[in-house]
Amino acid sequence: MKRIIVTGGCGFIGSNFIRFFLQQEPNLKIVNVDSLTYAGNLENLKDLETNPRLTFARLDITQLDALEPLFREPLDSVIHFAAESHVDRSILDSGPFIRTNVQGTQILLDLAKKASVRKFVHVSTDEVYGSLGASGFFTETTPLAPNSPYSASKAASDMLVRSYFHTFGFPGVITRCSNNYGPYQFPEKIIPLFISNLLEDLQVPVYGDGLQIRDWIHVTDHCSGVYAAWKSGIAGEVYNFGGRCELTNMELTTTLLRLLDKPKSLIKYVQDRLGHDRRYAIDCAKAETELGWKPIVSFETGIADTIRWYQENWEWVSRVRSGAYREYYQQQYGSRL
Ligand code: NAD
Ligand code: TYD
Repeated sequence: MKRIIVTGGCGFIGSNFIRFFLQQEPNLKIVNVDSLTYAGNLENLKDLETNPRLTFARLDITQLDALEPLFREPLDSVIHFAAESHVDRSILDSGPFIRTNVQGTQILLDLAKKASVRKFVHVSTDEVYGSLGASGFFTETTPLAPNSPYSASKAASDMLVRSYFHTFGFPGVITRCSNNYGPYQFPEKIIPLFISNLLEDLQVPVYGDGLQIRDWIHVTDHCSGVYAAWKSGIAGEVYNFGGRCELTNMELTTTLLRLLDKPKSLIKYVQDRLGHDRRYAIDCAKAETELGWKPIVSFETGIADTIRWYQENWEWVSRVRSGAYREYYQQQYGSRL
């Protein structure tokens, strides 16, 4: 049975992707490589605990020697999600972003090159393009102009993938997606943070004037895009994914208040994020034409389902917030260490 490595599979998008991928591909097995940072939660894959086609390797992508044995066995491809992913944290300390996102990607590229993989899908972000004015969209040829340490580290990793294609003919494919939402998202990002706070009647912190715009996409649409890039993406190419759903943070916040039937008094305006990008918006025509992909979850349906998921999985939220989720790995693997 063919084997692929997915990095960052215990995070938000990686865990949704593994679930999606195993359903699509009944004859492939996955090795999930994740170091379990604060954002990595093995409980995100609890329903797949006994699936014989999924194995877990607690490894850090910056540790070449520890990773190397995984690349010695026959390997079809790598799908690379692992990253430090939160802009606010990158403003506080960019060190882990450079280590994981830049150096970790370089190490994976070298290992994958040596293993002669068929494909390497590098999951990147629209944030590498910087910030838009009131009009226009990011296309795959928009020059990179990252503004935060997070987006700068992702842009650097994109450039490495590009250079390995150019220099070595390495089969790298880059995907750049807009803001995701959906189940299992760590409650530091705006949507799960606001839903969790509102469910407890806590205030929600809106940065600055709240008129920044993000283009929202449901995580399953992002997963189907990465899957399409893995299946039919062409080496050396970049594919943008977006939800064609631009909302200001205030529009998003008032939607959540309305759906949860909470008062506007729970909005708290706080100091703006440093260097805050004003607007992101994706033109995803290339992925639609060349990969036959399109986003299918409307924001109306997706956000209602997401709110329901957080309500029905309050235990998950509580365990993340209390830190109890960190014990799960020890329970599952501790005795075998
Ligand atoms: P996340 O923060 O939820 O998960 C990241 C995962 O990577 C965690 O499981 C963490 O333990 C793991 N990880 C971090 N450092 C590691 C290391 N050194 N070695 C091994 N594992 C490590 O992130 P996410 O939101 O699921 O994002 C996944 C990818 O998608 C990232 O590359 C991100 O840049 C990209 N992306 C995210 C969004 C979004 O809206 N969340 C949008 C576009 C692109
Ligand atoms: P976030 O979810 O951190 O994603 P990103 O910075 O990668 O786009 O933030 C989305 C938007 O929400 C961004 O404009 C910052 C804003 N925001 C708030 O206003 N309050 C918050 O508490 C958070 C986390 C974000």
